[in-house]
Amino acid sequence: MVKLPHALFLTTLVLHLSFTLAISARGRVPTPPLPILPLPSYSQLKWQQREIIMFLHFGVNTFTSYERGTGHEDPAIFNPVGLDTNQWVSAAMDAGISLMILTAKHHDGFCLWPSKYTDHSVERSHWKDGKGDVVQEFVDAAKARGVDVGLYLSPWDRHEPRYGHILEYNEYYLAQLQELLTNYGSLREIWFDGFKNSTLNMTYYFTEWFSMVKELQSSINIFSDAGPDVRWVGNEDGIAGTTCWATINRTSLSIGNASIEGYLNVGDPRGTHYLPAECDVTIRDGWFWHKSESPKKLSKLLQIYYNSVGRNCVLLLNVPPNTTGLLPETDVRRLKELRNALDTIFSVNLAEKCSVKASSQRGGKDGGFGPENVLDSDHLWTYWAPVDEDDAQDHWIEMRGTNGGLRFNVVRIQEAVGLGQRIKRHEIYVDGKKVAQGTTVGHKRLHRLKGGVVQGSVVRIRITESKGLPLVSSIGLHLDPFWQPKDVKVP
Ligand SMILES: *[C@@H]1O[C@H](CO)[C@@H](O)[C@H](O)[C@H]1NC(C)=O
Ligand SMILES: *[C@@H]1O[C@H](CO)[C@@H](O)[C@H](O)[C@H]1NC(C)=O
Ligand SMILES: *[C@@H]1O[C@H](CO)[C@@H](O)[C@H](O)[C@H]1NC(C)=O
Ligand SMILES: *[C@@H]1O[C@H](CO)[C@@H](O)[C@H](O)[C@H]1NC(C)=O
Ligand SMILES: *[C@@H]1O[C@H](CO)[C@@H](O)[C@H](O)[C@H]1NC(C)=O
Repeated sequence: MVKLPHALFLTTLVLHLSFTLAISARGRVPTPPLPILPLPSYSQLKWQQREIIMFLHFGVNTFTSYERGTGHEDPAIFNPVGLDTNQWVSAAMDAGISLMILTAKHHDGFCLWPSKYTDHSVERSHWKDGKGDVVQEFVDAAKARGVDVGLYLSPWDRHEPRYGHILEYNEYYLAQLQELLTNYGSLREIWFDGFKNSTLNMTYYFTEWFSMVKELQSSINIFSDAGPDVRWVGNEDGIAGTTCWATINRTSLSIGNASIEGYLNVGDPRGTHYLPAECDVTIRDGWFWHKSESPKKLSKLLQIYYNSVGRNCVLLLNVPPNTTGLLPETDVRRLKELRNALDTIFSVNLAEKCSVKASSQRGGKDGGFGPENVLDSDHLWTYWAPVDEDDAQDHWIEMRGTNGGLRFNVVRIQEAVGLGQRIKRHEIYVDGKKVAQGTTVGHKRLHRLKGGVVQGSVVRIRITESKGLPLVSSIGLHLDPFWQPKDVKVP
């Protein structure tokens, strides 16, 4: 016991000596700057990098062609004779999608898995003589190919007689949540909305539900109007605010409250929580499959991409399986077109061949925070940082074409959001002429130039306002052959 302080002292001394030696041998290595709170969690960062994720609305509505089932549907109508969840997963993978979310139960109350708490489920359908489990087949197919899964369990249940009896129904809901969270392995996202029967005095125990979710699965992201991990963007059109902060005041949010939609759309530069937005939109008109509908045009999907992923959000794109139990070929083809288009636009970065310089750089030349970091393949943890003392408030980074002129119509900017979202205002110049300006950047900001293709040799991006110092992790100059500004209305 008496020896312990002595041993500690020696260890400290040795550590201190080796630290001092390391410094004198290597000079003082510049450290990363302090983060600006609030910061994303590990799971939020992983979610944000997925960029596009898939929603699948499937259930009795698929067979009745309703968007909102009544709860009185006969389970026997659910019979997707050709159900092949491998086909769903292939379609997602071909589109570069790494997370798929299935409606385990929609408002009609019909369960796609054989819940032991109700018989209003696949158990009473003709599909596989009532022995099937869509959730299991979905999870198995996805996990076998390395695709992550999530589920939606509708709080509103128009079938369940306990609905409207607050305690009994909350216990029922929680029981089903526990089935889904314990029997199907790890889920990456769980989706909640606040729809309810407004004539009944119904309260959902979100606090208890969310606590239970986190208890059972620690790496899951909970989506709702109010997070706690991912927030709704405030509309179902796939359009984030042109200003879109991942930060927001969670205490100002409540679930199912229409008066907060504007706040959800733009977030809050002074927000106390990191709670990035997800933009849910369907590839067709409806969320469920309807024979008469067809998928949106490629140009529309690209516009949605720019307005969601290009504004610091994740795009949750719904692709509904049909009555056969397959994703329609037209939709699968459109998804592939979208992926090909995005690859065409973004696989070539004209900035990579440029020489790059900046207003200043932390730690000086070779300090590890130079502007060349915006051209490497890491879009998160290597970044350009200006020097601390630089209070000029005119931070800029400049790309100069080495071989004649640059031709592009898209500018991509990404922040090192791992250290907090910071940029409040920025401007883009080509050969001294302003071609675009904007506010927030976040994980990714895409500018499709309103004037179309520009040609020039020097591109300068000015960060004119930020919380603390701006940290830019990636910049791209791209040519989008699908962008014809005359024909497309920019919202
Ligand atoms: C709400 O509940 C009442 C009472 O159960 C029911 O009559 C009514 O149809 C329900 N409304 C909706 C939209 O489900
Ligand atoms: C509605 O439910 C709340 C919470 O259980 C309860 O306090 C309140 O009395 C109920 N109101 C009516 C009109 O039933
Ligand atoms: C809805 O949001 C507004 C604005 O934040 C707030 O004043 C109101 O209390 C909220 N309503 C409910 C039912 O939470
Ligand atoms: C959010 O919270 C911060 C810190 O409390 C506060 O400064 C800011 O005004 C709040 N934002 C809104 C819109 O109330
Ligand atoms: C569902 O989609 C698959 C794949 O395109 C197709 O073979 C099948 O005929 C479709 N079923 C219906 C009912 O349209």
